[in-house]
Amino acid sequence: MRVIASVAVQQRLARKWRAAGSKVAFVPTMGFLHDGHLSLIRRARRAAGPKGIVVVSIYVNPTQFGPGEDFSKYPRDLPRDAALCRAGGADVLFTPANTDMYARDASAYVSEERLAQRMEGASRPHHFRGVATVVAKLFNLVLPDVAIFGAKDFQQAALIQRMVRDLNFPVKIIVAPTVRASDGLALSSRNKYLSPEERCQAPILFLALQTAQAAVARRPLPRAALQKKIQRLIATQPAARLDYAEIFDPATLEPAPVAQPGAHLALAVWIGRTRLIDNAPL
Ligand code: PAJ
Repeated sequence: MRVIASVAVQQRLARKWRAAGSKVAFVPTMGFLHDGHLSLIRRARRAAGPKGIVVVSIYVNPTQFGPGEDFSKYPRDLPRDAALCRAGGADVLFTPANTDMYARDASAYVSEERLAQRMEGASRPHHFRGVATVVAKLFNLVLPDVAIFGAKDFQQAALIQRMVRDLNFPVKIIVAPTVRASDGLALSSRNKYLSPEERCQAPILFLALQTAQAAVARRPLPRAALQKKIQRLIATQPAARLDYAEIFDPATLEPAPVAQPGAHLALAVWIGRTRLIDNAPL
């Protein structure tokens, strides 16, 4: 596995791969890798084929963090991540530095203006502008044929698909399933922030998704009724506080008036000072 830190070197190499006709599959990440990320790397290998090139990027992108958010304390462990990528079968690990990624006076951004409005976009202003911008930049540096994103970040994956469609990126987007711990908690680099007591309470997100699925399987509910049910369930954990529970059409992300099978549910919940998200089809 080759580790590349330079933006110029990465782009030059990508142009060579393209000229040689190699298939390139790309997994963008912010590092502190877990089994969810590793499942995307395995998916990338399947997409690229044994002769293709699997590229993983690790870059904690400053433009997608808000002023009071966890950019500076976001967990980082490059030596461990590099070993996991190597063992996971990546060919290239791209680890650009901030000063190389963004010019000091950078002023061009990519913003998606519909799917980015609600949920994470409402709770975290500018977050998706940062995500779309960095993913567009990474696509220009890696020139992938295929890029893999996780269903864990459902709204992010929808937004990237929209960006690729609307801006004609020649990249196929694959969305891979959420990987969970045995108690249902979706794996996330941010789970590291949880104290042992908080970690015990964190599966409440998964329990809420399952409870909602079971409820709508019995009979459709008005959205407000399901939201109330979820709010009450989340409140049973002392460290948990609901940020949002949104029920929406998975194709448009528009709110669904009725919670019923076919709609999608996304949750954001504070566990102490850590904000976790999860989602599932109803
Ligand atoms: P990060 O949170 O590191 O996630 C990288 C990729 O891994 C994303 O596509 C995310 O959806 C996926 N992922 C995270 N947890 C997962 C899980 N438990 N199961 C399956 N996939 C999972 O998302 C980002 O980084 C950034 O916003 C990025 C796209 C890299 C842009 O900076």
